Amino acid sequence: MCGIVGYVGDSDAVPFLLEGLGRLEYRGYDSAGAAVLNHGKIEIRKAVGHVSSLVEEIKSHPVSGTSGISHTRWATHGGVTLENAHPHRDASGKLALVHNGVVENHKDLRTELESRGHVFASQTDTEVISRLIGEAFDGHGDKSRDGLVEAAREALQQVRGTYAIGVLHEDLGDFLLAARRGSPLALGLGDGGQFLASDPAAIAGWASNFVYLNEGEIAWLDGKKFEVAGIDGSAPAPVVVRSMEKAAKAGTKGKFEHFMQKEIHEQPESLREAMRGRLIADQGTACFHGIERSPEELRQWETLIFTGCGTSFNAALAGEYIIEFLSRVPVECEIASEFRYRNSPLEMGTAVFALSQSGETADTLAAMREIKRRGAPTFGICNNPFSTISRESDGGIDLRAGQEVGVAATKSFTSQVLVLTMLGLMLGRMRDLRHTEGKKILSALEKLPDLVAETLEVDEVVRRIAKKYAASESFLFLGRQANFPVALEGALKLKEISYISTCAHPSAELKHGVIALVNESTPSIFIAPRDELFEKNLSNIEEVKARNGPVIAVGTQGDDVLADLCDDVVLVPACEDFLTPILTVLPLQLLAYHIGVELGCDVDKPRNLAKSVTVE
Ligand code: G6P
Repeated sequence: MCGIVGYVGDSDAVPFLLEGLGRLEYRGYDSAGAAVLNHGKIEIRKAVGHVSSLVEEIKSHPVSGTSGISHTRWATHGGVTLENAHPHRDASGKLALVHNGVVENHKDLRTELESRGHVFASQTDTEVISRLIGEAFDGHGDKSRDGLVEAAREALQQVRGTYAIGVLHEDLGDFLLAARRGSPLALGLGDGGQFLASDPAAIAGWASNFVYLNEGEIAWLDGKKFEVAGIDGSAPAPVVVRSMEKAAKAGTKGKFEHFMQKEIHEQPESLREAMRGRLIADQGTACFHGIERSPEELRQWETLIFTGCGTSFNAALAGEYIIEFLSRVPVECEIASEFRYRNSPLEMGTAVFALSQSGETADTLAAMREIKRRGAPTFGICNNPFSTISRESDGGIDLRAGQEVGVAATKSFTSQVLVLTMLGLMLGRMRDLRHTEGKKILSALEKLPDLVAETLEVDEVVRRIAKKYAASESFLFLGRQANFPVALEGALKLKEISYISTCAHPSAELKHGVIALVNESTPSIFIAPRDELFEKNLSNIEEVKARNGPVIAVGTQGDDVLADLCDDVVLVPACEDFLTPILTVLPLQLLAYHIGVELGCDVDKPRNLAKSVTVE
């Protein structure tokens, strides 16, 4: 959470800082701020709200300078106020600092600093870092740039928790300091200047190359050169300079009104990309370059564990059903925030997959690191091949969904389910799945993008349904087998985008409590394609109808039973049972989108959320 952009070079920093922050709003958008070195003095501008509010503030109170740091916030410690917006100064007022992460021992550090006379200007955990570094710097004899590096090292050794920081000091001219532990940070290298960014996408088009800071590294840079070292004085890992061309480009909305809408409609293409070069037609199987293991090694995988948060967890759960069906390899799904602290047995022959669109989610990363420490092979399934999870895992699968800007994940979900399906095919073909079956699955996969495009034609039908039910105070989502995770995902989308209360359960759980919620004004959404459990779903729908509950069903084209029984029906094309989640989730994404729009919600930036959750 929170996004950082810094610039030092020949040009005015402000346009880079503001546009870069705009590209990082997916990391948080409670408030924003920038500190710029203007004729030897640091000037700070802050605004509560989106980055656009900061743009307005700078229009009314202009500032410029050739170095600066900036920040878009997702509040953790301290409310959403101007005082709590970053950057934060030290006691001398000469140092400004931006921070992404959480200082776990901030209370103790604050008490110590206060006992030494510090008077805090904010309620944030961050301010302890700016004050500690400033105090160490002022206490030193060395007032040079090296002195600031030493002071930062000294201060950061006292900080427990996670941080990516950018620091500017008005006595040191055009010079930035950065450090990272737990939260991502990259240095951008360009001809006319150099950058700091939480994500290289923030500085795409300006820097030609970039370098990711590794855990526990500190860096310092001016407009031309940079240096990296260990915070604790250790030698840094070899610096890997990557070409900016490979970093995700910042997206535009094109002809669409919202990124979420655009991303929903991009799914035929994103799914094609996820399959490109990964299907081996003559062998009826799939392969992934990021999982280069010998067939013997792959056969030794006796259990798979999938871990993730939010939508990524829902995709993992759909993958569990599909992979067990295709390959008979047992799969367990673990919510990363629970898994990381649980004393779960880890048998030999277990491979662990961390699913994360961003590849930066703090809990998922921590769960993966814990597993890696215990010696099991770890793989990342991420939408950013340069992300921390991708870099630290033993291998993995790039989702290739293209940048997802809307906070509510859409195309990354279907890409995750698709790559897990391909993984199931690959593992199945190494076990009992016959060649002819493999080829049949492969040809079904090849048709999938067209079926997705056809499904998205229900957009108008769903918009009308959204209008009809938008005033409902709560919704129930029900489905069976691999469509139970779709119910979870549909419920998550709707609550994220429209702030309507939702819950999701396997259809048969209705009788075990959920049915108590059924009444005339609570719509139940059943995901009921024509699969082998269709009749069972029908019985559950009858149970709701018998109690006058309105029912919206997502079914299979040609189904007239549902049309007779339900209040509203959305039909998707017929396909293999195990592929239905990729189609049935689409009307639910559209429903959430249209209800959100109908209610006037900010669908791309829902309240209180952030796309990338880099704090615990
Ligand atoms: C946040 C986002 C969700 C996302 C979850 C996991 O909660 O708002 O949309 O599903 O994080 O993110 P990841 O990047 O790990 O998939």
